Amino acid sequence: MISRSELFAGAATYYARYRHGYEAEIIEYIADVLDLDDRARVLDLGCGPGTLAIPLAARAGEILAVDPSEEMLAEGARWGTPGIRWLRGDSSTLGELSLGPIDHVVMGRSFHWMERDRLLRHFDDLLPAHGAVVLAGPTTDPVDPPWEPVVQAVRQTFGLEWRANSEEYAQSGRHHDEVLRGSAFHRLESRCFTRTARQSVDDIVGLQLSFSYSSPARLGERLPAFTEAVREALAAANPSGEWREKVVTEILVARRP
Ligand SMILES: C[S@@+](CC[C@H](N)C(=O)[O-])C[C@H]1O[C@@H](n2cnc3c(N)ncnc32)[C@H](O)[C@@H]1O
Repeated sequence: MISRSELFAGAATYYARYRHGYEAEIIEYIADVLDLDDRARVLDLGCGPGTLAIPLAARAGEILAVDPSEEMLAEGARWGTPGIRWLRGDSSTLGELSLGPIDHVVMGRSFHWMERDRLLRHFDDLLPAHGAVVLAGPTTDPVDPPWEPVVQAVRQTFGLEWRANSEEYAQSGRHHDEVLRGSAFHRLESRCFTRTARQSVDDIVGLQLSFSYSSPARLGERLPAFTEAVREALAAANPSGEWREKVVTEILVARRP
C-alpha cells in the first residue's frame, strides 16, 4: 500500500505546470461567498502546489496550506507568496498541527482522498458558526477530455490502470454532495464555471505525469517509453496536434443551517 506522502511522488512540478488552475472568476467567487477579509484564516487541505492557496492568499489574512507531500509543499512555497503557511500533514493529523482558529476550509480536488464523514465531524468541532467547507473540482458527472480514451489505451498497455482514492470513497461510491448532506454542513450552494482550454501534445503529456496513477515515481525507468507512446498515440488520433477541452469546475459551498 502506497503511503499518502508518496501518492504524487515526482509529480509536483508537472502538477504546478500542467494541471488546470482556477481562473480569477472562481477565486473571486470563493472570496466573495465566504466574505473573506484580511483577518480570515482559511485551511486549504490537500493544497498540492498551492493551486487554490496561492491565488486565494491575496484575499485572506492567512492560508494554512496542508498536504502530506513534501514535494508539493516545496513546489508551492518556492513562489514565496505572502500570507501562506505551508504545513506537512493530512486529514488524519490535523489535530497535531496547532493550526489555531480557522474560519473556513477549502479543498481543491482532494476530498476524495479522505475519510470524509469523520473529517466533516472534525470540522464541525473546529469551525465557528459562520465557518464553511468549500470543495472545488470537477462536477459529479465529469466529461472526459477528448484525449482521455487515447491515453487510457496507452496506460492499459503499461499496466497503469489504478486509480487511488480513500477506501471510504472507493467502497461507498457516494458523491461529495451526498456526504455533505449527511453532515452538519448540509446547507449546500453550488456554482459551475465553464471554459474551453486548448492543449498541445506537450501539455497533455506533461499532464499525465501529474496524475498519481502515472506519476514519474510510478513509471520509474519506463517514463521515457510511456511519454513517447502517449505522444505517438495522440499524433495518430489527431495529427493537427491541437486539442480542445471543456473544463467545468464546480464550487460547492457547504454550511451549517
Ligand atoms: C489532486 S491534488 C489537489 C491539489 C490542489 N488542491 C488542487 O486543487 O489542484 C490532491 C492533493 O491531496 C493530497 N492528499 C492526499 N491524501 C490526503 C489526505 N488524506 N489529507 C490531505 N491531503 C491529501 C495529495 O498529496 C495531493 O497534493
